[in-house]
Amino acid sequence: MDLYEYQARDLFEAHGVPVLAGIVAQTPEEAKAAAEKIGGVTVVKAQVKVGGRGKAGGVKVAKTADEAFEHAKAILGMDIKGHTVHQVMIAQGADIAEEYYFSVLLDRSNRTYLAMCSVEGGMEIEQLAEERPEALAKVPVSALTGIDAATADKIVAEANFPEELRGKVAEVLVKLWDVFEKEDATLVEVNPLVKTGAGEIVALDGKVTLDDNAEFRQEGHGALVDERSEDPLEAKAKANDLNYVKLDGEVGIIGNGAGLVMSTLDVVAYAGENHGGVKPANFLDIGGGASAEVMANGLDVILNDAQVKSVFVNVFGGITACDAVANGVVQALEILGDKATKPLVVRLDGNNVDEGRRILREANHPLVTQATSMDEGADKAAELANASAQK
Ligand SMILES: Nc1ncnc2c1ncn2[C@@H]1O[C@H](COP(=O)(O)OP(=O)(O)OP(=O)(O)O)[C@@H](O)[C@H]1O
Ligand SMILES: [Mg+2]
Repeated sequence: MDLYEYQARDLFEAHGVPVLAGIVAQTPEEAKAAAEKIGGVTVVKAQVKVGGRGKAGGVKVAKTADEAFEHAKAILGMDIKGHTVHQVMIAQGADIAEEYYFSVLLDRSNRTYLAMCSVEGGMEIEQLAEERPEALAKVPVSALTGIDAATADKIVAEANFPEELRGKVAEVLVKLWDVFEKEDATLVEVNPLVKTGAGEIVALDGKVTLDDNAEFRQEGHGALVDERSEDPLEAKAKANDLNYVKLDGEVGIIGNGAGLVMSTLDVVAYAGENHGGVKPANFLDIGGGASAEVMANGLDVILNDAQVKSVFVNVFGGITACDAVANGVVQALEILGDKATKPLVVRLDGNNVDEGRRILREANHPLVTQATSMDEGADKAAELANASAQK
């Protein structure tokens, strides 16, 4: 889960990372009150889980509380790269002398953690990495030591911080690692980390991604979920313990086992090339137990996606035999009743396939077509999706 900046700020504060005052507001009136409370110059910042807010006009300096009111009025409701701004953070204005960059993240390809740091912050880091890679220090971080004092010293030295600042910055990096480790994050990024006119080091912006797999041992993290920023279908799937990812196409996909579902996506995308370029609409792995209820929940999620024109159910019977899956499909269609409106192509193979196919044949549901191979099923589902998209 990605956090909002204000949530990252709060976690930073809790772990002793120096931050400035910040108050979240949902209305211009609240923004004004927050600016009055903080006093002096403030910055009104759009809270959306996407980068480049400043460039999009979502970060504005306010000299007075009335200005904060006006900025909040303009920013609230704004659309930034497809994300609606529901909240702004009123941040205490910083007297910025210099802007730096720091991040630590899980580096999957190298099976370790990686810290990145630069004295040239503020600009987009992708651009810096491309144009001036020598200005971006990359230091692997061992999971055993984390960013301890010695590693922090190494990072600030490689990033070429001036001698007199190194100690102060290193201290902040150790605390940012504390956030990373104790909160079970996979990313902690500060851009910019600044030096103020008074020589203090402060985190002015924060991006944090928490590891959802650690939810069970992070009691406080449940409260950070914001349903408004979640895809409603993904939220519904999650509530039903389904492994679902929404994609942009027209053919809904249900399969058992991540590998089979992945290859089904490929085969459907390939078949779609012959049928108007239709594409897979989602990834949905119903796992080992394809019970009627799991199938009904899965179909319910997929059929509620307005973009879906047909569904391809591709199941290889193993421990859960094909007859159980076939019964699952039939009962799921009964449970859904009139809510099931889109054609289904079902391909069963593996354990007890003959019985499974017989059950579907005898049920003779008007929406269901059977296929005997994956290619045939993908082709049929793509054809049906294309035909219905043309209507
Ligand atoms: N509290 C603050 N006081 C003074 N200036 C600020 C403050 N917060 C941000 N700024 C200025 O605005 C710039 C952009 O802010 P910030 O980094 O928070 O947003 P962004 O980089 O545009 O968004 P994102 O990081 O989501 O891409 C900063 O680089 C900094 O110069
Ligand atoms: Mg930033």
